[in-house]
Amino acid sequence: MKKLTTEQRQWRTLQNMLRGYRFGQILMTCARLGVFDALASNAQTATELATQLNVNANGLARLLNAAVSLKLLKLKKNSSSAQTASNRYAIAPLAQTSLLPNSPFPLGRMMRREHAFYQRWAWLDEAVKMGTRPDANIRDEKSSNWVMDFELALFDSAKVQAPVVAELLKLPADRTMRVLDVGGGHGGYSMALARQYPNAQPTVFELPEAAKAATHIIASQNMSTRVAVHAGDFQKEDFLPDWDMMLLFGVLVSETPAGKLRLLRKCHAGLAKGGKVVIREWWLDDNRAGPLESTLFSLHMLLSTQAGDISTQTEMFGYLREAGFRHVRVLPLPQWLGSALVMGEK
Ligand SMILES: C[S@@+](CC[C@H](N)C(=O)[O-])C[C@H]1O[C@@H](n2cnc3c(N)ncnc32)[C@H](O)[C@@H]1O
Repeated sequence: MKKLTTEQRQWRTLQNMLRGYRFGQILMTCARLGVFDALASNAQTATELATQLNVNANGLARLLNAAVSLKLLKLKKNSSSAQTASNRYAIAPLAQTSLLPNSPFPLGRMMRREHAFYQRWAWLDEAVKMGTRPDANIRDEKSSNWVMDFELALFDSAKVQAPVVAELLKLPADRTMRVLDVGGGHGGYSMALARQYPNAQPTVFELPEAAKAATHIIASQNMSTRVAVHAGDFQKEDFLPDWDMMLLFGVLVSETPAGKLRLLRKCHAGLAKGGKVVIREWWLDDNRAGPLESTLFSLHMLLSTQAGDISTQTEMFGYLREAGFRHVRVLPLPQWLGSALVMGEK
């Protein structure tokens, strides 16, 4: 085949970028309609599945065929019939890992949250013009299940990541370790610490509605005797004293630079001498133009918060030192987890 010219390649690259939204939409639509759940136990024809899901058979067949092209599903041809309508659709290995109800690396609930975020991204031009999140992206949070859906999606993600993080934190075994999981949401990181370290006493500190979600999720994991929940607002109150460790996972990113410093100072005040703060975030390069995932997340924060943004690692080290922390260092997370941990000591 003739090699493409540079212009042809660039034209093709731009087209793929322009229409990249279609891939995510196919994945989310399959999940939202219940395609993966319905095919989990047995392969079905488009007509059978359309009846089960109560959708149009022709529309569904097109969706399923696109999902086959994306290797989310596979086709099982009926050898005794030339009719494509008798072909059955089954889960492909790519979907097996994360898209079934009991998948080991679950993404199902993340899909629900991502659909809400997909709608947020439609307001990007508005957000860029105003330099803050558009009204529509404030209104969506008023829907009744917003907090629970959000925390459950993050909990799924934590199920995969928290054991790795807990291992890396290497809590000393010779004394009780009081850990405050600030903005700990679902409690997944606190539960991983409690499971890994019998001497850990974690408390999730959360806004009242998220605290309710955390209490529910922690109870669902039979961990209520090991992980406490405290309903509070770190904007309005100080932390109780003498914590051995404070986690700030995915929390500082929603704050302004002054807000980040204020919160870190509160953490410093709440820690016992020698206590540690651990921050988990995505980092921007010093020139703020990469890596790609962080620049996308920075836009996401523009769409989703009043004035939050990701920091560079240099900035975060600066905030920590200004708040009084010493021995500020990075704890290397495996690359597939994407984000990074930074630790500082009082
Ligand atoms: C992105 S989530 C991170 C959840 C969890 N730490 C994780 O890494 O998966 C940020 C959390 O901070 C909580 N949060 C935001 N502002 C807060 C405040 N003023 N006081 C307490 N929690 C707050 C939110 O409710 C939310 O659960």
